[in-house]
Amino acid sequence: MSRTIAVSGASGKTGWRIAEELLRAGDQPRLLLQEHSVVPEPLRACQLHRLQLSDPNALDAALEGCDGLVIATGARPSVDLTGPMRVDAWGVQHQVESCRRLGIRRVVLVSSLCAGRWRHPLNLFGLILVWKRVGERSLERSGLDWTVIRPGGLSERETDLEHEGIRYSTADQQDSASIPRRLVARCCVEALATPASIGQIIEVTSSAELAPISLAKALEAFPQVA
Ligand SMILES: NC(=O)c1ccc[n+]([C@@H]2O[C@H](COP(=O)([O-])OP(=O)(O)OC[C@H]3O[C@@H](n4cnc5c(N)ncnc54)[C@H](OP(=O)(O)O)[C@@H]3O)[C@@H](O)[C@H]2O)c1
Repeated sequence: MSRTIAVSGASGKTGWRIAEELLRAGDQPRLLLQEHSVVPEPLRACQLHRLQLSDPNALDAALEGCDGLVIATGARPSVDLTGPMRVDAWGVQHQVESCRRLGIRRVVLVSSLCAGRWRHPLNLFGLILVWKRVGERSLERSGLDWTVIRPGGLSERETDLEHEGIRYSTADQQDSASIPRRLVARCCVEALATPASIGQIIEVTSSAELAPISLAKALEAFPQVA
C-alpha cells in the first residue's frame, strides 16, 4: 500500500533525491519547503507545503496524515552563523514535536558524520556539528521510531553507483570519506522499510571497493536496541 512520507528540506540536493527514491519505491512524497525553495521540475507534481519550521500550526498542517517523515533540512553555508542552531537543532526539534503531536511515529533524520564533535574544522560554521547533535538528541528522546543517518562528505556523483558498497557503522566509528547523495537517499528510504534501523545511529560512507549489501544485513552486526 502506498504511504505518504513527508520530506523536509526537499529542495536540497539530498532532499529531492529522497523524494525521487520514495516515488521509485511506490510511496507518495510530500515536500516540505520554505516560501522560496525551488524543487526540480518533475517533483512539482508532488504535494508541496511551504512553511517556516518555527510555525507549529503550519508544521502540523503540513504533516497531517503522513505515515512518516524524513528530515533533510540543514543550514546552508552563510555568513549568518546562527543557521546551524536555528535549522539543525531547533528546526529538527520543531519537526519532532509536530510528529509527536500528530502521532506520526516513524522519523528518519539525515545528520552528519562527526555530529557532536567540538573540535572539528566544520564547526567554524556556527558550531554546526554541535547543533546537529542537539537535533539528533531531540529525536532520540522523542519516544518515536527514529533512525539517524550520518553521512560522510556528500557528492553529486550519479554514475557507477550500482556496484558501490556502503560502509555502515554505529556512532562515532568513522570520521572521513564521502558518499554520493543518491546513495544516502536510497539509504533513508531503505531505513523506512527496515524495522531493525529503529533506534539506531547509522554512519554511512561508500566505496567502489566494497560489495553492496542491504541495510538489514549490515544491521545484523550492530548492537541490538532494547
Ligand atoms: N554537504 C556535505 O558534505 C554534508 C555532509 C554530511 C552531512 N550533511 C548534511 O546532510 C543534509 C543534506 O545536505 P545537502 O547538502 O544535500 O543539503 P542542501 O542542498 O544544503 O539543502 C538544505 C535544505 O535545507 C533547507 N533549509 C535550510 N534552511 C532552512 C530553514 N531555515 N527552514 C527550512 N528549511 C531550510 C533548504 O531549503 P532552501 O532550498 O529553501 O534553502 C534545503 O532544502 C544537511 O543536514 C547537511 O548538513 C552535509
